[in-house]
Amino acid sequence: METASSSSSSLNKKKKEALGWMEWLRGWCYVIHEMLFQRILASHLQNPLPLPPVNDLTCIVTGSTSGIGREIARQLAESGAHVVMAVRNVKAAQELIQKWQEEWTGRGLPLNIEVMELDLLSLDSVVRFADAWNARLGPLHVLINNAGIFSIGGCDAMNDLLLGFLLEKFHYHLLFALTLLCPEPQKVSKDGHEEHMQVNHLAPALLSVLLLPSLIRGSPSRIVNVNSVIALFVDPEDMNVVSGKRKFTSLLGYTSSKLAQIMFSSVLQKRLPAESGINVLCVSPGIVHTNVARDLSKIVQAAYHLIPYFIFSPQEGSRSTLFSATDPQIPEYCDLLRADDWPVCAFISQDCRPTNPSEEAHNVETSYKVWEKTLEMIGLPSDAVEKLIEGEEVKCKYGTQQEAALSH
Ligand SMILES: NC(=O)c1ccc[n+]([C@@H]2O[C@H](COP(=O)([O-])OP(=O)(O)OC[C@H]3O[C@@H](n4cnc5c(N)ncnc54)[C@H](OP(=O)(O)O)[C@@H]3O)[C@@H](O)[C@H]2O)c1
Repeated sequence: METASSSSSSLNKKKKEALGWMEWLRGWCYVIHEMLFQRILASHLQNPLPLPPVNDLTCIVTGSTSGIGREIARQLAESGAHVVMAVRNVKAAQELIQKWQEEWTGRGLPLNIEVMELDLLSLDSVVRFADAWNARLGPLHVLINNAGIFSIGGCDAMNDLLLGFLLEKFHYHLLFALTLLCPEPQKVSKDGHEEHMQVNHLAPALLSVLLLPSLIRGSPSRIVNVNSVIALFVDPEDMNVVSGKRKFTSLLGYTSSKLAQIMFSSVLQKRLPAESGINVLCVSPGIVHTNVARDLSKIVQAAYHLIPYFIFSPQEGSRSTLFSATDPQIPEYCDLLRADDWPVCAFISQDCRPTNPSEEAHNVETSYKVWEKTLEMIGLPSDAVEKLIEGEEVKCKYGTQQEAALSH
């Protein structure tokens, strides 16, 4: 006779093979629900979100030249935090800082904000960034892994025209529909990883682990990952979607990377002892009007600007991340979850309330597989976290290229 646990494990096995139509449907429901109701659900929130005192905080914000990250960096700096913009386009960040300083003139002390180069498409760049930051021997209080991509593309001109017309009306879920219908080029980073997986999950995971020494110095500290409601499916045996078991779409790449991030964060939170004072959270920003459609053709991008009123502005979309980064009750909530057997990290929704990520995010077996596979893909030993907590050195496979070049 089949027990409840055996039937749930056979269900899990099925889920690992592919994302069934039920899961897709559920994913669509999440998106449509988020889109229709996010403004109502978040109606209790002020905009901008008032922040508690942050003068003593040092915060790294990745991808802060655009969209949600740009708002997060500006608001944290204007509230008095020391902000490090971790970006690939240093010039754009410097121009933003200059603009923000000019706008801030006469309202208080100059903003304490700086730029450091970080290209998440290069794991060498991640290691260089972490080494440079850790070498300061200063504290890090908040790491915000915000940078992300959703490279929707590859549709032909007719599809683009159709998309441009329909996007006006159906916006986000139509983007998802077309990603299913159109063949899309699968892009691979120079490290050999599918680009969504690298930018949205692998590189932030490497950054989080390598910055643990600075986060310990800043303890109590937080790692906040800007995630999504469509974290639905990941195959830990095929994180780069190369096995041919399923057709690559940007939606599959995106959803896999976001679920991998939740699963990795959950295991990381479990592995960090409570005494470390480091909490790991994932956040949904809502559906936000940003540069997310940048890979679409000009005509579609023009249509994108005609979005319906219920899409969040970047300022509204920044609230759940800012809340997770600064709210004083967060550590208590994370401690509660840590004590639970159910190893899922805190997930804060676009209305700044704790919520449950997707059902698959609770799959413990897959979470541990994703953890192991991720460490392998980012070139870290399986005991990296434990060693760093003990103050020992950890060697990463990446980040040696420049050192090698320098030594010659
Ligand atoms: N917008 C939404 O509706 C929505 C919904 C759910 C989740 N999210 C998540 O929110 C986060 C922010 O996205 P957004 O909507 O604000 O999009 P966005 O306006 O496109 O901003 C993305 C940021 O990530 C940076 N970035 C991209 N690739 C990078 C790389 N290789 N190295 C370093 N930085 C890189 C971009 O830098 P450049 O300016 O140099 O390109 C940009 O600053 C993402 O993680 C996204 O998945 C967004």
